[in-house]
Amino acid sequence: MSRTMLIAGNWKMNGTRPEAKAFLEKLRGLKPEARPGRELLICPPATLIGEMAHPLAQLGVSIGGQNCHPGVSGAFTGDISAGMLRDVGSSHVIVGHSERRAMHGETDQLVHAKARAARRHGLTPIICVGETLAEREAGHAETVVREQVRASVPDGIEGEALVLAYEPVWAIGTGRAATLDDISMMHHVIREALAGKSDGAECGLILYGGSVKPSNAADILALDLVGGALVGGASLDAGDFMAIADAA
Ligand code: 13P
Repeated sequence: MSRTMLIAGNWKMNGTRPEAKAFLEKLRGLKPEARPGRELLICPPATLIGEMAHPLAQLGVSIGGQNCHPGVSGAFTGDISAGMLRDVGSSHVIVGHSERRAMHGETDQLVHAKARAARRHGLTPIICVGETLAEREAGHAETVVREQVRASVPDGIEGEALVLAYEPVWAIGTGRAATLDDISMMHHVIREALAGKSDGAECGLILYGGSVKPSNAADILALDLVGGALVGGASLDAGDFMAIADAA
């Protein structure tokens, strides 16, 4: 694929200021700015965005949030708006991660509203979809993902402004990535589902996420429809993160 690939790190609830400093030091030594043809993005916890935005920008690496509230401001204790993420230097925000869908009861409708809020504030949403193991074993993986795409992706967002991530829930943090055939097949399903929406949206990039590591990244990123990776655990180590980027 000739387009710029996006290699995104999702730090989840990991990272203190000393850890961020150590990561940045190691990353600096690996010269991430010298990698044309791929965009690198780190989504640390919200507490670190303001602090990491500038040093990452100097290395040519973008920064983003892991979640946002659909509203603009107000009495929403503990929440952060898309505008606030933008204010501290974010270019992207992950929405609808399976951990939020499962542990915070986020519905497709809420994910849809969050993606719209992201766009209103000039952020690129990374909309996550993916089936559970039970859904896959019941033979429903495609139907589930198709419906998530239909209901979570707002109309009128497309091209570069839209990133989807296929993250099968059973592959997240398990060390067991989906097979190359399954990844290809589901990326095809997602592309079809987008084309079937009322506005026939075209998605800029579809990432794969779920146990991506330096040892499997080259094979996954060589797949035709795969536009990059959403990396959890391995993105906490600057060396592993750059090894994945180099595999692209
Ligand atoms: P792991 O790479 O740790 O499996 O996590 C994937 C993920 O959830 C990224 O959003």
